[in-house]
Amino acid sequence: MLTLRGSGPRRGSSLSNLDLIEDGALLVREGVISAVGTRGQVEALPEARAAEKLNLGGRVALPGFVDSHTHLVHAASRAEEYELKIQGASYEEIARKGGGILNSVKKLRAATSEDLKKRALAALKQFAAHGTTTVEAKSGYGLDVASELKILKLHKELAAEQPLEIASTFLGAHVVPEEFRNKKAGGAKRYIQLLEENLLPAVAEHKLAEFCDVFCDRGAFSVAESKCVLQSGRQWGLAPRMHAEQLSRTGATRLAVLLRAASCDHLEQVNASDISALAKSNTVATLLPGCDFHLGLKKYAPARALIDAGAIVALATDYNPGTSPTLSMPMILSLACTQLRMTPAEAITAATINAAYSLRREKLIGSLEVGKQADLAVFEVADYREIPYYFGVNHCWMTLKRGRVIHAAQDSRN
Ligand code: NIG
Ligand code: FE
Repeated sequence: MLTLRGSGPRRGSSLSNLDLIEDGALLVREGVISAVGTRGQVEALPEARAAEKLNLGGRVALPGFVDSHTHLVHAASRAEEYELKIQGASYEEIARKGGGILNSVKKLRAATSEDLKKRALAALKQFAAHGTTTVEAKSGYGLDVASELKILKLHKELAAEQPLEIASTFLGAHVVPEEFRNKKAGGAKRYIQLLEENLLPAVAEHKLAEFCDVFCDRGAFSVAESKCVLQSGRQWGLAPRMHAEQLSRTGATRLAVLLRAASCDHLEQVNASDISALAKSNTVATLLPGCDFHLGLKKYAPARALIDAGAIVALATDYNPGTSPTLSMPMILSLACTQLRMTPAEAITAATINAAYSLRREKLIGSLEVGKQADLAVFEVADYREIPYYFGVNHCWMTLKRGRVIHAAQDSRN
């Protein structure tokens, strides 16, 4: 059992400390962990005597994965663009021709809430089947008042109606929607005004999000525009997060640090000064290697330099139809190991306790400790390093959320 006990977040060499207990056990009461130790220690507790026993059969148990960056609600895949990319078109070329995010916006606006919900529920089941117990979810494929609220209301409904925990993020500043793009319509400035005057008040009033995110990049929002949106978001009680330095280096990371953002994500194009700014901050550097893998790009984020400098590194899927259509955290761990040169232990820490910290939930989830939720992923492997080692196959045997089994592999049911 990997407990990841200790005070988070983890930086530098402390990312390697999984606090492994051989033949470990947990005592759970009303969904909360009340004891952690070896099986002998836990079974000897008087409170353990009457407890119902769940035998994990010597498999590897660890905290459920915290997927701290997803675009959960979207209407359809963009498989057609995938093929164009293989034939040589770049992500940005496709976006300039009205594809990309705008393609997903068109599809989402036309979709009913019921259809979007059905798709998201199916995805959430798959997240759980791969060991994830908490998911951050961003809006950002609506980009008008009604459609953005439609997505955020779905986050709330989904959180109430299925077992995974959902942290909701408002990403109204994903890109400028089509109808604002010409000069007459006022461009980015007018759109930001809509976000500030119409959307943010409604999001806050109905408590539809905890975080406000901005896609700060070439072809999306500038650093100055991002600053306006994130400062307005904060005035409405939303903590900042950012999409930063993915396609080009803009200085977004410096802004994230300045605004004490909860997280700064992507970071493929960061420079040395960005790395040292992150290292000195409490802003989590969330790496999304699924994007580079899916887009066939060779330049991954400099995970080693970030860890060695002392930044709080986390990993997430970035589940979305354009750049990273995967919901498998084990696959992300595999990419983190082979492409980002993170060790299996570092990758597991980044995908659990550090990701929990980026969602400001580190007191509740991300490690197996007394007083935290009993959120657990159990893998059918002999050694935790086999979780990233085997790729493209799902070895998650069981997933528990607040002590309840929410996924069980076929062979565990008989
Ligand atoms: O995280 N970079 C911006 N947003 C998404 C991609 C969204 C899309 O292409 O649909 C990302 O990569
Ligand atoms: Fe994203």
